[in-house]
Amino acid sequence: DKGNHRHFMAKEIYEQPETISHTLSHYLDMASGTVSLREDLPFDFDDLSRMTISACGTAYYAGCVGKYWFERHARLPVDIDVASEFRYREPPLEKNGLSLFISQSGETADTLAALRYCAGQGQHIASLINTLESTIARESQVVFPILCGPEIGVASTKAFTAQLVSLASIAIAAGRARGALTPQVERGLVEALIGLPSAVSQALAAEEQIVEIARHLSRAKDVLYLGRGPMFPIAMEGALKLKEISYIHAEGYAAGELKHGPIALIDEDMPVIVVAPSDELAEKTLSNMQEVAARGGRIILITDEEGARTVGHGVAETILMPKVDSFVSPIVATVPVQLLAYHTAVAMGTDVDQPRNLAKSVTVE
Ligand code: M6R
Repeated sequence: DKGNHRHFMAKEIYEQPETISHTLSHYLDMASGTVSLREDLPFDFDDLSRMTISACGTAYYAGCVGKYWFERHARLPVDIDVASEFRYREPPLEKNGLSLFISQSGETADTLAALRYCAGQGQHIASLINTLESTIARESQVVFPILCGPEIGVASTKAFTAQLVSLASIAIAAGRARGALTPQVERGLVEALIGLPSAVSQALAAEEQIVEIARHLSRAKDVLYLGRGPMFPIAMEGALKLKEISYIHAEGYAAGELKHGPIALIDEDMPVIVVAPSDELAEKTLSNMQEVAARGGRIILITDEEGARTVGHGVAETILMPKVDSFVSPIVATVPVQLLAYHTAVAMGTDVDQPRNLAKSVTVE
């Protein structure tokens, strides 16, 4: 049932304040304002040598954001790879390593093959799953549920934000277990998570403006998305969403890599979407953005009011998201890139929920 929405994808984008609350209520103990994992862990975070994440598509981009969180807040080194590369690389794995597999469906063939490889290497096996009755869940020692409800749209939206909320919570638990967080910092991170449902609702309010921007975007042949730090995976996720449902070629790039090649592509016909909330990285990203502006590129900036104030000339459109703690800003910044892809596809009249050539669950290798 799509409710009042034209497509399942729209319904699932709009459900996110609710699904995020639901995920949070599993991972947080609201009374004490702390993360409390209900899962029985077959390992101690404190003893882990390393974490290895494997996943595909959108789940992989969630893992890329997770890597920043685990490294920064739990001081746990993380390797991440797309499952189809990981498994054939047959990487040597350290003793007492944790392997984490992220999958909405729990049935993705390459992710499952990577899991079996890691199990064979004696790693601890954990997975982050939406469909709990699934092969990957069954073959894991511990399953972290993302609890966003069934996702029908082939383009993943609410599962991505639920994966992020779960990863953020687990990273806090790991940080505490590893003695990497002061109680004060931990409290700040948890408060940022608790504020998410309302911040995501506020981000959804940019829809009307995004409909207009999407009308322009639907005439583009190529679109570049730029981000730095945890916003880099959000840029890649935004590009994937646009490719999947509008069939417009798009690429997500690390903002700092722009001048090492892709800047040669920039002209007036190339929209460049810059994801840069005001944080310690924003200044650098915004200066990369000025390099694009100087070459006539059409810039669409996703930021907050503070970020918008620090930008000079050259931005065609600014999409405002609420100002949030930088810990959770990748989750809030996801909303505008989802809406941009969705409305571009609607403007083009493509089959949003069933894009050509794609299946909801990829069970071939
Ligand atoms: O079910 P999974 O999370 O394992 O699926 C992984 C990818 O196939 C999936 O995220 C795919 O990239 C989506 N179509 C993205 O919108």
